[in-house]
Amino acid sequence: MELYIDTANLDQIRQAHELGVLDGVTTNPTLIAKEGVDYGTRLADICKVVAGPVSAEVIATTYHEMLAEGKDRASIADNIVVKLPSTIDGLRACKALSDQGVRTNMTLCFQALQALMVAKAGAYLVSPFIGRIDDIGEDGMELIVKIRQIYDNYGLPTKVLAASIRHPNHLLQCALAGADVATVPFAVIAKIMNHPLTDIGLEQFLADYRKAFG
Ligand code: G3P
Repeated sequence: MELYIDTANLDQIRQAHELGVLDGVTTNPTLIAKEGVDYGTRLADICKVVAGPVSAEVIATTYHEMLAEGKDRASIADNIVVKLPSTIDGLRACKALSDQGVRTNMTLCFQALQALMVAKAGAYLVSPFIGRIDDIGEDGMELIVKIRQIYDNYGLPTKVLAASIRHPNHLLQCALAGADVATVPFAVIAKIMNHPLTDIGLEQFLADYRKAFG
């Protein structure tokens, strides 16, 4: 499974990159707003650190504007993937950009049929939002399972990018369900390598060594 980081924070992106686990980056308007920087400039900076796909979301909501903004974002670097909302206009823009060789990430996907439509329109990635479905008392992981099944049934090449991941168990369930990619906040990456038995074991090894050799 590929692992992306879900942030526009350059320090976190650099740290994850240095760990050797990073295959790409996803950003969105909320994440850029948190940084308080120009979206295009930050994307260019991210693309200097990460060679893999970097998702750049459009702010526009209508077809023609999405198309223009998408092309503009795509011109920033070769590894930019244009992120579009899973709406009717987004679908149309997905088809047009895909036909022009621009990779797209269809975001805010909350039901399996949206994922079927965006795959037919040529999307490179689809982003089902697990955590936000859990937030309303439903099971976000079921969506990953359904999309995986539909894509496998028909050999659809769009990659399932599990998004809105809040904790390591989300990531584990995504890997078991066969998501192609998961995008996670830096805090989730850090938590994965934190295990009390690892810490206790390490402490014991070092204590034994010190006792024997001083
Ligand atoms: O990048 C979109 C997605 O991962 C957002 O996550 O936690 O705001 O639902 P969250």
